[in-house]
Amino acid sequence: MLLSSDAYSYRSGVLYCEEVPLDEIARRAGTPCYVYSSRAVLNRFRAYKGALEGFPHLVSYAVKANSNLALLRLLAEAGAGFDIVSGGELFRVIQAGGDPSRVVFSGVGKTPAEIEYALKSSIYAFHCESEGELGLIEALSARLGVRARVALRVNPDVDAGAHPYISTGMREHKFGIEMAEAESLYRRAQKLPHLSLEGVSCHIGSQILEVEPLLEALDRLLELARRLRQAGLPIRHLDLGGGLGIPYRLSDAAPNIAEFVKQVRRRMEGQDLFLILEPGRSIVGEAGVLLTTVLYRKPGATREFIIVDAAMNDLLRPSLYQSHHEIFAVRQSLRGTVRADVVGPVCESGDFLALDREMPNALPGDVLAVWTAGAYGFVLASNYNSRPRPPEVLVEADRWRIVRARETYEDLIRGESV
Ligand code: LLP
Repeated sequence: MLLSSDAYSYRSGVLYCEEVPLDEIARRAGTPCYVYSSRAVLNRFRAYKGALEGFPHLVSYAVKANSNLALLRLLAEAGAGFDIVSGGELFRVIQAGGDPSRVVFSGVGKTPAEIEYALKSSIYAFHCESEGELGLIEALSARLGVRARVALRVNPDVDAGAHPYISTGMREHKFGIEMAEAESLYRRAQKLPHLSLEGVSCHIGSQILEVEPLLEALDRLLELARRLRQAGLPIRHLDLGGGLGIPYRLSDAAPNIAEFVKQVRRRMEGQDLFLILEPGRSIVGEAGVLLTTVLYRKPGATREFIIVDAAMNDLLRPSLYQSHHEIFAVRQSLRGTVRADVVGPVCESGDFLALDREMPNALPGDVLAVWTAGAYGFVLASNYNSRPRPPEVLVEADRWRIVRARETYEDLIRGESV
């Protein structure tokens, strides 16, 4: 299999992240362990920024994809804004040195405490998803004596063509406000004195491999913005959300970031609107791998098992979405391949990283790299089976450092009492 990436490559049979051999990280940091390439993150962020140069915009990285402080710092320094969905994410952004005035707050279930925290932090805008939420933001803003910038997240009713769990833009989904109702809601909300209705927004889904649904959603939002302006609302920004997919399979063709953004830009030229994008996966997904060591080989009754030290608690995506992650040997061998299931130590049949896959013929002690694990990897990790969560490592050229320590048994019981 040919591996081509701006961050990962084989040199003399050893897999490197930038200029660092991954077997060195596995030896010193232990496994399982997440590794991120700062170069890969910055290249993708800059692809967004570069294509928008000279156009009023904010690239708000979706913190939920990977919220490690070191990555947030890297992006903040490169000029990123942030898309958050909780008070905890806002706290992380601030701790990482991010600028709250570049933060947009999305989500269907913002709590009063979260809204208050965001108002006191003077974030850029709230993306509201219901009339009840508008009322709450109005009341809290009045109490604090501030005016909140608000956009309604509408539901453009386009099919993003992604996995059902991560499609969000159709009428039956809990997200957003019906297009047909949006206009009258905007008018009602305009009367609330502590809200400034400035934007339209949407997010139609994730891991989208064809750009047409995104462009169709954009057209519907532009149309809505036009109508609202005609009705006298001062619409200033349009937020298209995130969603651009990445190649989980080496054979996948994923959209090119710069080309996609240029198409968006072309449609928005001359409309006098500020563009916000909320990419998550397309910035960090390909930057990360999960290193894991083979513990055992076990010839099962119907198939061969490769039992590794990473499990569904470390990387949930295969179990939750049946998602595919390529798996490479960190040291290439001459032992050929084997058809096998790659499974972890967790006590569930659903605990697997790959099923019935042609795999490197890895033996106990060999280290494997689970590919495209930078987005929705560590953030979905849990302590299930009382397994400490793995460390995270950031690579910068020929240097690497641990940016989150491996959890200890003490960490597992913090806050508990008998
Ligand atoms: N903006 C909003 C409002 C979102 O809900 C999301 C993701 C994003 C931006 C970022 O989307 P991205 O560019 O990363 O596609 N856990 C799933 C993905 C869930 C996505 C949720 N929303 C997975 O592992 O595939």
